[in-house]
Amino acid sequence: MQKITIAIDGYSSTGKSTVAKQLAKYLGYVYVDSGAMYRAITLFAMEQGFISDDHFDVKGLISNLELVQISFKLNKETHVADVYLNGINVEKRIRTLEVSNFVSQVAAISEVRSMLVKQQQQMGEERGVVMDGRDIGTVVFPKAELKIFMIASAEKRAQRRYKELIERGDNVDYSEVLHNIQERDYIDTHRKDSPLIKADDAIEIDNSNLTLDEQFQNILQLTTQVLEGL
Ligand code: DC
Repeated sequence: MQKITIAIDGYSSTGKSTVAKQLAKYLGYVYVDSGAMYRAITLFAMEQGFISDDHFDVKGLISNLELVQISFKLNKETHVADVYLNGINVEKRIRTLEVSNFVSQVAAISEVRSMLVKQQQQMGEERGVVMDGRDIGTVVFPKAELKIFMIASAEKRAQRRYKELIERGDNVDYSEVLHNIQERDYIDTHRKDSPLIKADDAIEIDNSNLTLDEQFQNILQLTTQVLEGL
């Protein structure tokens, strides 16, 4: 059967990656978490001292981007690819609130975006890919056969994210998580280069009141319609 490209964009913590993984597994497609790539560069910037609470050396980061190598390798336990920064598995370290607090600033840099977009387009060359992010349907794969745009209220998203962070043992409070989500929404939608917007041909799904299964069935049905129409 012919393979398609599926782009899943939307606001932070709308559960894009959860449904993208479910869908990729069901279809036997490759799943790519593009946000993990922006997070890995952010971790690099933190480790190299280019970004901290009180300074951001944008020029320094840009001139060192050639030292950043991002790759994915399948994790045999989770059956999902983990992200590697210069050969080291950073999957866990890129998910902290500290990285979340800086990542939107790093993702706003055009040089960072063009480097990652190129890599993302290469990963999708053979189709059969489900990629989630902010600009997948607008910039990375403008010709994707199926584009989903996910939304949910900021409070609902913060509740889900807070639960996730607490469950993995992070010491955070709810208001801090909500603040991070609201701030990222603002930066992601207001940046000059590839701001988060719904592609004209994307289908919007508000999952504030949907269970994971309802959401999956909904998107699976849309996928089936596209595949049957090929
Ligand atoms: O999906 P995520 O929350 O892990 O993404 C982290 C950040 O990276 C998010 O705040 C915006 C940015 N991002 C982006 O600008 N473009 C993408 N395609 C994916 C993520």
